[in-house]
Amino acid sequence: YGPGMAEQLISTAEHAELPENYVRPEAQRPRLSEVVSDAQIPVIDLADPDRAAVVARIGDACRTHGFFQVLNHGVPAELTQAMLAVAYDFFRLPAEEKAKLYSDDPAKKMRLSTSFNVRKETVHNWRDYLRLHCHPLEQYVPEWPQNPPSFRETVSSYCVEVRKLGFRLYGAISQSLGLEEGYMERTLGEQEQHMAVNFYPRCPAPELTYGLPAHTDPNALTILLMDQQVAGLQVRRYADGSWIAVNPRPNALVINIGDQLQALSNGRYKSVWHRAVVNSDRPRMSVASFLCPCNDARIGPAAELVAHDSPAVYRDYTYAEYYAKFWSRNLDQEHCLDLFR
Ligand code: SIN
Ligand code: FE2
Repeated sequence: YGPGMAEQLISTAEHAELPENYVRPEAQRPRLSEVVSDAQIPVIDLADPDRAAVVARIGDACRTHGFFQVLNHGVPAELTQAMLAVAYDFFRLPAEEKAKLYSDDPAKKMRLSTSFNVRKETVHNWRDYLRLHCHPLEQYVPEWPQNPPSFRETVSSYCVEVRKLGFRLYGAISQSLGLEEGYMERTLGEQEQHMAVNFYPRCPAPELTYGLPAHTDPNALTILLMDQQVAGLQVRRYADGSWIAVNPRPNALVINIGDQLQALSNGRYKSVWHRAVVNSDRPRMSVASFLCPCNDARIGPAAELVAHDSPAVYRDYTYAEYYAKFWSRNLDQEHCLDLFR
């Protein structure tokens, strides 16, 4: 990392004031008082024995909101709790130790960074994050932080369970589109798995900035473990553009459709805009796991979903091409998929 860059981490100090380069112009601010509560984001019990009903609920959620929460998802509660605890402990490490892990090069497979893309953006975001590649674990774990001492073991176990859940959801999502159960798993190739451990410190001016501004996820499917005490995720309602707060629900995981599943589904399923807001009372943590197609996977609308009256909305491309385009832009521009029509 360049000299002085790691000083940009915001989790290493208390902040009495929001620095100028975090302040959004008036028109881009979160307008927190206009956000509605989460009554409308579906909650789906994966242990429901009526498989057809579960598949139908998932399909409905993907079409209408692009987001849903799952209960009885198979990731043990002790493990999600341990994951959040070790994440907090990590961000409490001494500044010098964190500085050694700092990088703002998005190509690095393990890095501690801040905001989103510090090299490209003009206004920063009130977030520090640790980004890890997680599959295959044998390849990446030796590069991971060694502190806190339980970090590698806890995070590896969590990654394995989340991956299982992801593949289960692929099966249900494929079926909900009328595709065979193994369709997504097969089409997306030997998939990568990335993780962003997001830490949002207390912020002196939450009305003026974001933890993460509105964005869609570039990958296929995201599994989000949220802080169990502090809210911050907001989802843009596809129907009318209003913002909905997704409040933490005990033992739930939040699932969202990424750009690649929107493309595969020929636009039937929505990769919707979402954002993280911050608050002045308490820090917040979230752990996002991203299932990503392999780089050379050829993505495009499934042939079964293209017909005379529903022509292909997107062209075919490789995931490598898509991902490079995604990181070359600012987060809060137009939907990245619109560049692949
Ligand atoms: C994200 O969109 O990746 C993170 C959202 C959150 O912190 O809840
Ligand atoms: Fe996201």
